[in-house]
Amino acid sequence: MSKTADQLASQPARPPAPLQTESFRNSRTEIVGGDTPEPPFPIIMSGVVQKGFGRGGKDLGCPTANLPDESLLPMSSVTSTGVYFGYAQVLPKTENKALLGEHLKVWPMVMSMGFNPFYSNKELSAEVHIMHDYGTDFYGHEMKVVVLGYIRPELDYTSREALILDIDMDKRVAIRSLDRPAYEKYSTAIPDVLNA
Ligand SMILES: Cc1cc2nc3c(=O)[nH]c(=O)nc-3n(C[C@H](O)[C@H](O)[C@H](O)COP(=O)(O)O)c2cc1C
Repeated sequence: MSKTADQLASQPARPPAPLQTESFRNSRTEIVGGDTPEPPFPIIMSGVVQKGFGRGGKDLGCPTANLPDESLLPMSSVTSTGVYFGYAQVLPKTENKALLGEHLKVWPMVMSMGFNPFYSNKELSAEVHIMHDYGTDFYGHEMKVVVLGYIRPELDYTSREALILDIDMDKRVAIRSLDRPAYEKYSTAIPDVLNA
Protein backbone atom coordinates (compact mmCIF):
# COMPACT_ATOMS: atom_id res chain seq x y z
CA MET A 1 0.00 0.00 0.00
CA SER A 2 1.31 3.50 -0.78
CA LYS A 3 2.30 5.66 2.18
CA THR A 4 -0.28 7.99 3.70
CA ALA A 5 0.29 11.74 3.31
CA ASP A 6 1.19 11.90 7.04
CA GLN A 7 3.81 9.17 6.64
CA LEU A 8 5.29 11.01 3.63
CA ALA A 9 5.31 14.29 5.58
CA SER A 10 7.29 12.72 8.43
CA GLN A 11 9.95 11.19 6.15
CA PRO A 12 13.26 13.04 6.15
CA ALA A 13 13.53 12.58 2.37
CA ARG A 14 10.49 12.05 0.18
CA PRO A 15 10.64 10.25 -3.16
CA PRO A 16 10.25 12.77 -6.01
CA ALA A 17 6.72 13.04 -7.47
CA PRO A 18 6.32 11.44 -10.90
CA LEU A 19 6.62 13.82 -13.84
CA GLN A 20 3.45 14.48 -15.82
CA THR A 21 3.55 12.99 -19.32
CA GLU A 22 1.36 13.30 -22.42
CA SER A 23 0.59 9.58 -22.31
CA PHE A 24 -0.66 9.96 -18.72
CA ARG A 25 -2.96 12.80 -19.77
CA ASN A 26 -4.23 10.88 -22.79
CA SER A 27 -5.03 7.86 -20.62
CA ARG A 28 -7.23 9.83 -18.21
CA THR A 29 -10.95 9.08 -18.00
CA GLU A 30 -13.71 11.60 -17.28
CA ILE A 31 -15.39 9.52 -14.57
CA VAL A 32 -13.51 8.10 -11.58
CA GLY A 33 -14.49 6.04 -8.52
CA GLY A 34 -17.42 3.72 -8.06
CA ASP A 35 -21.12 4.36 -8.50
CA THR A 36 -21.18 4.97 -4.74
CA PRO A 37 -18.34 6.64 -2.80
CA GLU A 38 -15.82 3.92 -1.96
CA PRO A 39 -14.06 3.58 1.43
CA PRO A 40 -12.34 5.52 2.96
CA PHE A 41 -14.74 8.08 1.44
CA PRO A 42 -16.76 10.06 2.39
CA ILE A 43 -14.30 11.99 4.56
CA ILE A 44 -15.29 15.27 6.20
CA MET A 45 -12.83 18.08 6.87
CA SER A 46 -13.50 21.54 8.20
CA GLY A 47 -11.60 24.55 9.44
CA VAL A 48 -11.04 28.27 9.13
CA VAL A 49 -9.70 29.20 5.67
CA GLN A 50 -6.01 30.20 5.77
CA LYS A 51 -4.03 32.42 3.43
CA GLY A 52 -1.91 30.26 1.11
CA PHE A 53 0.84 31.56 -1.16
CA GLY A 54 -1.84 33.01 -3.46
CA ARG A 55 -0.38 31.41 -6.61
CA GLY A 56 -3.53 29.41 -7.37
CA GLY A 57 -5.50 32.50 -8.39
CA LYS A 58 -2.62 34.56 -9.80
CA ASP A 59 -0.53 31.94 -11.67
CA LEU A 60 -3.03 29.23 -12.44
CA GLY A 61 -6.38 31.02 -12.79
CA CYS A 62 -7.66 28.64 -10.14
CA PRO A 63 -8.05 30.25 -6.69
CA THR A 64 -7.70 27.81 -3.81
CA ALA A 65 -8.67 27.95 -0.15
CA ASN A 66 -6.21 26.36 2.28
CA LEU A 67 -7.31 24.36 5.30
CA PRO A 68 -5.35 24.67 8.55
CA ASP A 69 -2.88 21.85 9.31
CA GLU A 70 -5.01 20.29 12.06
CA SER A 71 -7.98 19.97 9.66
CA LEU A 72 -5.99 17.70 7.34
CA LEU A 73 -5.85 14.77 9.73
CA PRO A 74 -9.06 12.91 8.72
CA MET A 75 -7.63 12.77 5.16
CA SER A 76 -3.87 12.76 5.63
CA SER A 77 -3.91 9.86 8.09
CA VAL A 78 -5.76 7.49 5.75
CA THR A 79 -5.05 8.64 2.18
CA SER A 80 -1.95 9.54 0.23
CA THR A 81 -1.12 12.76 -1.59
CA GLY A 82 -3.13 13.48 -4.72
CA VAL A 83 -6.11 15.23 -6.25
CA TYR A 84 -9.58 14.51 -4.87
CA PHE A 85 -13.16 15.60 -5.60
CA GLY A 86 -16.28 16.28 -3.57
CA TYR A 87 -18.32 19.19 -2.28
CA ALA A 88 -17.49 22.26 -0.18
CA GLN A 89 -19.43 24.95 1.64
CA VAL A 90 -18.33 28.24 3.16
CA LEU A 91 -20.02 29.14 6.43
CA PRO A 92 -19.54 32.83 7.23
CA LYS A 93 -18.82 34.18 10.65
CA THR A 94 -22.04 35.81 11.84
CA GLU A 95 -20.55 39.28 12.23
CA ASN A 96 -19.36 39.25 8.61
CA LYS A 97 -22.16 39.71 6.09
CA ALA A 98 -19.90 39.69 3.02
CA LEU A 99 -21.07 36.26 1.90
CA LEU A 100 -24.80 35.85 1.34
CA GLY A 101 -27.29 33.97 -0.80
CA GLU A 102 -25.90 31.48 -3.27
CA HIS A 103 -22.36 31.93 -1.91
CA LEU A 104 -23.50 29.95 1.14
CA LYS A 105 -24.64 26.93 -0.87
CA VAL A 106 -22.77 23.65 -1.28
CA TRP A 107 -20.62 23.66 -4.45
CA PRO A 108 -18.51 21.02 -6.24
CA MET A 109 -14.82 21.16 -5.40
CA VAL A 110 -11.45 19.71 -6.38
CA MET A 111 -8.75 19.42 -3.75
CA SER A 112 -5.00 19.00 -4.10
CA MET A 113 -3.40 17.48 -1.00
CA GLY A 114 0.36 17.19 -1.00
CA PHE A 115 3.61 19.07 -1.41
CA ASN A 116 2.89 20.87 -4.73
CA PRO A 117 6.07 19.55 -6.41
CA PHE A 118 5.73 22.15 -9.19
CA TYR A 119 6.29 24.83 -6.54
CA SER A 120 8.59 22.65 -4.36
CA ASN A 121 6.61 23.23 -1.16
CA LYS A 122 8.19 21.78 1.98
CA GLU A 123 5.04 21.33 4.05
CA LEU A 124 2.00 19.16 3.45
CA SER A 125 -1.04 21.26 2.53
CA ALA A 126 -4.59 20.82 1.29
CA GLU A 127 -5.86 23.37 -1.23
CA VAL A 128 -9.51 23.40 -2.19
CA HIS A 129 -10.78 24.95 -5.41
CA ILE A 130 -14.52 25.51 -5.12
CA MET A 131 -16.29 25.60 -8.48
CA HIS A 132 -18.21 28.78 -7.80
CA ASP A 133 -17.35 32.45 -8.35
CA TYR A 134 -17.43 34.13 -4.92
CA GLY A 135 -16.07 37.39 -6.31
CA THR A 136 -13.99 37.81 -3.14
CA ASP A 137 -11.67 35.81 -0.94
CA PHE A 138 -13.03 34.20 2.18
CA TYR A 139 -10.04 34.01 4.49
CA GLY A 140 -11.21 33.67 8.08
CA HIS A 141 -14.50 32.02 7.20
CA GLU A 142 -15.23 28.42 8.13
CA MET A 143 -15.10 25.92 5.26
CA LYS A 144 -16.62 22.47 5.35
CA VAL A 145 -15.57 19.85 2.81
CA VAL A 146 -16.77 16.35 2.05
CA VAL A 147 -14.25 14.35 0.01
CA LEU A 148 -15.97 11.68 -2.08
CA GLY A 149 -13.24 10.23 -4.28
CA TYR A 150 -9.72 10.19 -5.67
CA ILE A 151 -8.87 11.61 -9.10
CA ARG A 152 -5.12 11.23 -9.68
CA PRO A 153 -1.68 11.32 -8.06
CA GLU A 154 0.14 14.57 -7.40
CA LEU A 155 2.55 15.17 -10.29
CA ASP A 156 5.51 17.37 -11.10
CA TYR A 157 5.34 19.56 -14.21
CA THR A 158 7.80 21.14 -16.62
CA SER A 159 5.38 23.96 -17.46
CA ARG A 160 2.63 25.96 -15.81
CA GLU A 161 0.46 25.43 -18.92
CA ALA A 162 0.57 21.65 -18.47
CA LEU A 163 -0.53 21.98 -14.81
CA ILE A 164 -3.38 24.31 -15.87
CA LEU A 165 -4.53 21.76 -18.48
CA ASP A 166 -4.57 19.00 -15.87
CA ILE A 167 -6.47 21.15 -13.37
CA ASP A 168 -9.09 21.88 -16.07
CA MET A 169 -9.42 18.14 -16.65
CA ASP A 170 -9.66 17.57 -12.85
CA LYS A 171 -12.63 19.94 -12.75
CA ARG A 172 -14.39 18.11 -15.60
CA VAL A 173 -13.71 14.77 -13.92
CA ALA A 174 -15.15 16.07 -10.63
CA ILE A 175 -18.35 17.36 -12.26
CA ARG A 176 -18.90 14.15 -14.24
CA SER A 177 -18.08 11.90 -11.28
CA LEU A 178 -20.42 13.80 -8.93
CA ASP A 179 -23.23 13.49 -11.46
CA ARG A 180 -24.30 10.08 -10.14
CA PRO A 181 -27.27 9.40 -7.84
CA ALA A 182 -25.26 8.19 -4.82
CA TYR A 183 -23.16 11.37 -4.82
CA GLU A 184 -26.12 13.72 -5.13
CA LYS A 185 -27.15 13.45 -1.48
CA TYR A 186 -24.11 15.57 -0.50
CA SER A 187 -24.93 18.33 -2.99
CA THR A 188 -27.34 20.24 -0.74
CA ALA A 189 -25.92 19.75 2.76
CA ILE A 190 -22.64 18.49 4.19
CA PRO A 191 -23.17 16.63 7.47
CA ASP A 192 -20.99 17.55 10.48
CA VAL A 193 -20.37 13.89 11.19
CA LEU A 194 -21.10 10.81 9.14
CA ASN A 195 -23.60 8.23 10.28
CA ALA A 196 -22.31 4.71 9.81
C1 LIG B 1 -7.24 20.48 -8.74
C2 LIG B 1 -5.82 20.83 -8.45
C3 LIG B 1 -4.80 19.96 -8.83
C4 LIG B 1 -3.47 20.27 -8.58
N1 LIG B 1 -2.49 19.40 -8.94
C5 LIG B 1 -1.20 19.68 -8.69
C6 LIG B 1 -0.16 18.76 -9.05
O1 LIG B 1 -0.40 17.68 -9.59
N2 LIG B 1 1.13 19.13 -8.80
C7 LIG B 1 1.45 20.31 -8.18
O2 LIG B 1 2.62 20.58 -7.99
N3 LIG B 1 0.47 21.17 -7.79
C8 LIG B 1 -0.83 20.87 -8.04
N4 LIG B 1 -1.82 21.75 -7.67
C9 LIG B 1 -1.50 22.70 -6.62
C10 LIG B 1 -1.22 24.03 -7.09
O3 LIG B 1 0.12 24.03 -7.41
C11 LIG B 1 -1.55 24.93 -5.91
O4 LIG B 1 -2.91 25.13 -5.86
C12 LIG B 1 -0.80 26.17 -6.07
O5 LIG B 1 0.47 25.91 -5.55
C13 LIG B 1 -1.46 27.33 -5.40
O6 LIG B 1 -1.26 27.31 -4.04
P1 LIG B 1 -1.16 28.69 -3.28
O7 LIG B 1 -2.38 29.50 -3.71
O8 LIG B 1 -1.18 28.32 -1.83
O9 LIG B 1 0.07 29.36 -3.74
C14 LIG B 1 -3.15 21.47 -7.92
C15 LIG B 1 -4.17 22.35 -7.52
C16 LIG B 1 -5.50 22.05 -7.79
C17 LIG B 1 -6.58 22.98 -7.35
